[in-house]
Amino acid sequence: MRRQVRIGLIGTGKMARAHGHAYLTAARFFQLPVEPRLAVVCGSRERAETLARAFGWEETATDWRCVVERADLDLIDVCTPTGSHGEIAAAAVGAGRAVLCEKPLASSGQQAEAVVRAAASAGVLGAVVFNYRYVPAIRQARDLIAAGRLGDLRHLEFHFLQDWLTDEARPMSWRLRAAQGGGVVLDLGSHLVDLVQHLVGPVGRVAAIVGRSIGERADEQGEPQPVDVEDHFQALVEVAGVPGTLAASRVASGDRCSFGFQIHGSRGSLRWDFQRLNDLELYLEDEPALQGWRRISVTRPGAHPWAEAWWGAGHGLGYEETFVHLMAAVLRRLGGEEAEIPTLEEGLRCQRVLDAMVAAARGRTWAAV
Ligand SMILES: NC(=O)c1ccc[n+]([C@@H]2O[C@H](COP(=O)([O-])OP(=O)(O)OC[C@H]3O[C@@H](n4cnc5c(N)ncnc54)[C@H](O)[C@@H]3O)[C@@H](O)[C@H]2O)c1
Repeated sequence: MRRQVRIGLIGTGKMARAHGHAYLTAARFFQLPVEPRLAVVCGSRERAETLARAFGWEETATDWRCVVERADLDLIDVCTPTGSHGEIAAAAVGAGRAVLCEKPLASSGQQAEAVVRAAASAGVLGAVVFNYRYVPAIRQARDLIAAGRLGDLRHLEFHFLQDWLTDEARPMSWRLRAAQGGGVVLDLGSHLVDLVQHLVGPVGRVAAIVGRSIGERADEQGEPQPVDVEDHFQALVEVAGVPGTLAASRVASGDRCSFGFQIHGSRGSLRWDFQRLNDLELYLEDEPALQGWRRISVTRPGAHPWAEAWWGAGHGLGYEETFVHLMAAVLRRLGGEEAEIPTLEEGLRCQRVLDAMVAAARGRTWAAV
């Protein structure tokens, strides 16, 4: 019988559902060395009980501090608002539990460093939910870049544009409160920075403009409250020496979730767009008579990452499978097998870039990472 990995999940919102679903599906679609058990879900009683009924969590809890101390748990999964990630993750690894933390790892480089140090001294596994690394087209893009198919990289452009805050009547939430880690730099910025570092290399320096378009919103009681976080940024970056731009917004009218990138090199280019996440666009300069962009459906078993586990060529995957692939990798690692996971150190490296971005915007200057 396979060893069980007993999971305690903190948080009861959207990501709690994505993660619960992913553990169950990973166990059904992948050959794993361990069996994930949904042991306890923690949050407000009503929400935790609703999740327990929907996903089969064995128990519910209301205090995360008690959960991370439980010796019968192997993995703590942190799905709370960003402002609490650093504290919960550090407590979990300090208590000797492995941790899987939603992105970003913490609210600052200093906090992230404390998590990394605590995990190293406890000798436990840690990972950050940079789930877009687990889109097959993105894994394919990384392999093409690593194999040198694009030649020398010349410049790049990454963007993550949403418009859910264009409506001024939209009420306050934790995503609009700095104390809860709510701004767009930590939120969408962490995905962009991780992805550019994963695909191309470390960000060396950054200059940025960070702005807030709407400064007040009604709270849960209808009272106006100041919004103290930014809702868009534009950044210039040097990524392993390659110049580029990163942009993110929550007020990009008409763009529900425009997330994508273009990378241009001396021998070819790549483009990817979340709205067509199974496709990777590739341009190669080495066939003069046939030059032009090609669109590759990254779904072919035997040719493309993770495709064997699913349905067949041309049958697309979605957002939720990114979590399934990531959970399968984490469970493999917990079962002693090799698998690539986004490490706590990479979470820290991402956080340092975000800190530098904010410092650069404040000082109206370049900031080194
Ligand atoms: N990887 C991704 O694609 C992705 C997508 C969305 C959100 N996220 C990240 O996931 C985290 C959670 O986001 P979400 O969309 O699930 O938010 P959400 O608002 O849907 O849910 C947050 C939940 O945490 C609960 N909560 C708050 N404080 C708690 C505490 N002390 N103990 C237990 N539960 C607590 C809230 O009641 C709520 O149910 C955020 O840090 C966010 O950045 C990642």
